[in-house]
Amino acid sequence: MSSAGISREQWSTRAGFVLAAVGSAVGLGNIWRFPFVAAESGGAEFLLVYILFICLVGLPAILTEFVVGRKTGRNPVSALQEIGSGLWRYLGWLFVLTTFVVMSYYSVVAGWTVRYALLGLEGQYAASMSGAEQQFLQVGQGIQTVGFHALFLVLVFGIVDLGVQRGIELAAKLMVPVIVLILIGLAGWATTLEGASEAYSFYLSPELGAVTAHWTSIVPSAAGQAFFTLSLGFGVMLVYSSYLGEDRNLVTDGSIILGLDTVVAVTVGLIIFPVLFTGGTPPGGQGVEVLFTSLSSAFGGLSAGGAIGAVFFATVAIAALSSAISLIEVIVSYLVDERGIPRRRATGAICGALFVFGIAPAVDTDLLELYDGFADGVLVVLGGLLFTAYVSWMWADEAAEELSHGITNSNSGRLSRCWIWLVRVPVVTVLVVSLVLGVAEVWGECPHI
Ligand code: PHE
Repeated sequence: MSSAGISREQWSTRAGFVLAAVGSAVGLGNIWRFPFVAAESGGAEFLLVYILFICLVGLPAILTEFVVGRKTGRNPVSALQEIGSGLWRYLGWLFVLTTFVVMSYYSVVAGWTVRYALLGLEGQYAASMSGAEQQFLQVGQGIQTVGFHALFLVLVFGIVDLGVQRGIELAAKLMVPVIVLILIGLAGWATTLEGASEAYSFYLSPELGAVTAHWTSIVPSAAGQAFFTLSLGFGVMLVYSSYLGEDRNLVTDGSIILGLDTVVAVTVGLIIFPVLFTGGTPPGGQGVEVLFTSLSSAFGGLSAGGAIGAVFFATVAIAALSSAISLIEVIVSYLVDERGIPRRRATGAICGALFVFGIAPAVDTDLLELYDGFADGVLVVLGGLLFTAYVSWMWADEAAEELSHGITNSNSGRLSRCWIWLVRVPVVTVLVVSLVLGVAEVWGECPHI
């Protein structure tokens, strides 16, 4: 089926596609969520389970979005209408809903990072934890926060408005290398800190007993985090692969994306934990603000901490930007392809609506935390589960056939069948378990009458 007769843009190079997907994957999830989820779940134990999930669940799952995107060449809503039957046809709308909920608070948190970069430049990090908490109360919610949320959306608009090649692809080609290089540089600097060795042993030496003892919290958070960080369960990877022209080896592309995303997540831990241990701030603790309060106070106590903190938070802001553009693209692609709305108008309308929806989490951090728990613990996992189950059980032959395109290895048929079974059983099982545990957790956190 044609997409309303409009010719769609495509990536200009393979590297462009891979970098855009890495740009989407590497974001606040790696930097803001990863350390606090890891710290809450015991540091190294979490890291171990997480890496296992990335390989066994993340790679097979990302390929499901790739094959549907490349095969249909359409946005998530229309792609599912095309391949789905019965109620499954409407699954793309769940992606739109998830995208909306996540983006409304994602840009608020991204606004915090811009604000913290500026605070570092001004040399204004509070050196004590109580001072930092006080500072966060001013930065984290209120009218200023709404302003930074708006500023971030304007930046997103500026890129998405330029289209796939001149906007998203070019931005990713510039931003991703900058993010990776700066983070590696900061991790090198972090090795010189006093608390580094204590931090590495907390972060890098797992106690296996803890994994079995806390599996009910580690499994859902590791699965949710693996999905969130790879931008799965939103239709992002689907829409990005729909802009692929010729057939390429999707397994290779997926592996590069996964590898780079994991390297970034692990590297961020190698920066954050040494800073926290040196600053005497315990890495545990609850809440979305923990990265900002504990890290800024730790930076505040280090020599040149303001400048280094500014570089760190500015890098986080860039990473958030390269992710946010992919989230917006999910909805924009639908409006452009199917409704024939000009890209500028579609992007403007979505950014405007997101601004309005983001006002509530921008003025109330508790609400933001609730949105995040609900989106990551329930919506992302639910969307991922329904999508992977449908593709692997009901659309398996087409999916396996599509994956084999671009793979020159003579065993591509066997590889594809193997992949389908990996999705059918391990991926779907992990997602079912995570969903049940995630719903229970969100339910437990909701205020009850
Ligand atoms: N993967 C991004 C991150 O780690 C979050 C994201 C999810 C971005 C879905 C786009 C789509 O921050």
